[in-house]
Amino acid sequence: MKLELKSGAVGYIDAGNGPAVLLIHAFPLNNTMWTSQIAVLSNRFRVIAPDIRGFGESQPASVWTMEEMADTINEFLDKLDVKDCAVVGVSMGGYIALVFWSKYPERVTQLVLSNTRARADNDAEKRARNDMIAAIEQSGVAILPDRMLPRLLQPNPRADVVRNVRSMIQTTSPDAAVYAVMAMRDRMDFSSMLHRIVCPAMVITGENDVIIRMEDSRAVADAISDARFITIPNSGHLSNLENPEAFNAALLSFL
Ligand code: MLT
Repeated sequence: MKLELKSGAVGYIDAGNGPAVLLIHAFPLNNTMWTSQIAVLSNRFRVIAPDIRGFGESQPASVWTMEEMADTINEFLDKLDVKDCAVVGVSMGGYIALVFWSKYPERVTQLVLSNTRARADNDAEKRARNDMIAAIEQSGVAILPDRMLPRLLQPNPRADVVRNVRSMIQTTSPDAAVYAVMAMRDRMDFSSMLHRIVCPAMVITGENDVIIRMEDSRAVADAISDARFITIPNSGHLSNLENPEAFNAALLSFL
């Protein structure tokens, strides 16, 4: 499905009926990373999964900030007539979910922050972002699978998961990838705002996540009063893809 927003066309999946659940994908993937969650959740919920600007079916790519992306999601929900929803974000999707909550808290009924962090990038991480931007500008997204797969997935990942993630990365446009890396590099620090989250919240970590370590996720959970903290076994950074059974069970029990 597609609709027109101020920033261009947004591609999205809208499946099922019931209370709305918004799923925001990770970098450098697209909304098909949620296939297994949508299959399960859409029996009880209205599940909405947009492609972030420039990814998947959302075109064209253009420069964005986290704050602008929160506004885009706000406009998107208006167009879909969704007053409020549970917001679930994995990694980059979690960065966006936090900014969305901070700008539009009345629209967030429940918050799920998976394999993500609240703090901003430190200097070394910003330098690594700049290296990645230069590499994509020089060689395109072809360099990303070898660079990212060993960190996105746990050691000895399932072959079908590797194939799926590789193909999502390879279909990403280089511009979309560069603009998203810039937005992640420049995002603000939300650590000191976490105590203001009053809606039910769940923080998810992957047992073998090397991009966002368990301690970082634990720190997010500890800073939110009453957040549920869940570790997904046998998974790295993309816990919803690597262990969908455990991820879906956690999500269903929380929602
Ligand atoms: C993601 O999975 O969305 C990204 O790896 C997050 C990041 O690079 O900070």
